[in-house]
Amino acid sequence: MIKTSSIKKVRDLISEQKKNTKSVGLVPTMGAFHEGHESLIKKARKENDYVVVSIFVNPAQFAPNEDYNLYPRDIKSDLLKAENNGADLVFMPNDKVIYPEDYSTYVTVEELTDKLEGKSRPSHFRGVTTIVTKLLNIVTPDNAYFGQKDAQQLAVVKRMVKDLNMPVKIVGCPIIRNQSGIALSSRHHYLNRTQMKTAVGIYESLKEGVKMIKSGTSDFGAVKERILDVLQNFGIKRIDYVEFNKWESLEPLRKPEGKVLISLAVRIGNTRLLDNVILDSPRL
Ligand code: PAF
Repeated sequence: MIKTSSIKKVRDLISEQKKNTKSVGLVPTMGAFHEGHESLIKKARKENDYVVVSIFVNPAQFAPNEDYNLYPRDIKSDLLKAENNGADLVFMPNDKVIYPEDYSTYVTVEELTDKLEGKSRPSHFRGVTTIVTKLLNIVTPDNAYFGQKDAQQLAVVKRMVKDLNMPVKIVGCPIIRNQSGIALSSRHHYLNRTQMKTAVGIYESLKEGVKMIKSGTSDFGAVKERILDVLQNFGIKRIDYVEFNKWESLEPLRKPEGKVLISLAVRIGNTRLLDNVILDSPRL
């Protein structure tokens, strides 16, 4: 496995692969790998001749009051996991390589980014779509892999790639959960044991919502009430949102219609956690 922080080196290695008509897969990450990241790398390994993993904690997607400085970083362990899961190249640029002093270009996807996460984190997606564009331009992959854990990010990146005719396939990958059903997140580094127990309520609440919809409840207001009840029973009181949207347009839904994204964001201590499920509306 090769490691580099140089854009030129990445380009040279990729053009060598492309000369030999090899397919290239990119797994963009901010490091602090858990099994969720590993599942993306494994999938990329299966589906491509050459696998690039990028590791870059992107300052542009954090607001000044957010956890950019605290964000977990463990490059040694990440490199080991990348290699064990079959990465060929790890691109780990520094801030100056990505955002030189005179940097002034940003990519924004409109509307889709105003809701859900975008409401609480207004500049977040502009940072995500900018870095993803840069990584896609640098690596020029055939396929790029994103987890469904950040469902809105996945929808936004898919829309950007479609709107801007970017020649890459965005591959969405399932959420990886621990034995208690908690969706794995690098931000779990911030939680203590008691808080991890509380976090079990997040997926439990979503499962209750799914159960209600599957058994014929068509009023999402009632489903939301039940989800909020479960969260509160687990001691989760700071709930940013629980929402129902059409997947992948993110149009708000009041009742089942096509594929439904139920997503939520809550705070446990100072840590903001996200989770979601996507389900097919039942035929009634
Ligand atoms: O999901 C992430 O880890 C980040 O938002 C991404 C896509 C690597 C962009 O920085």
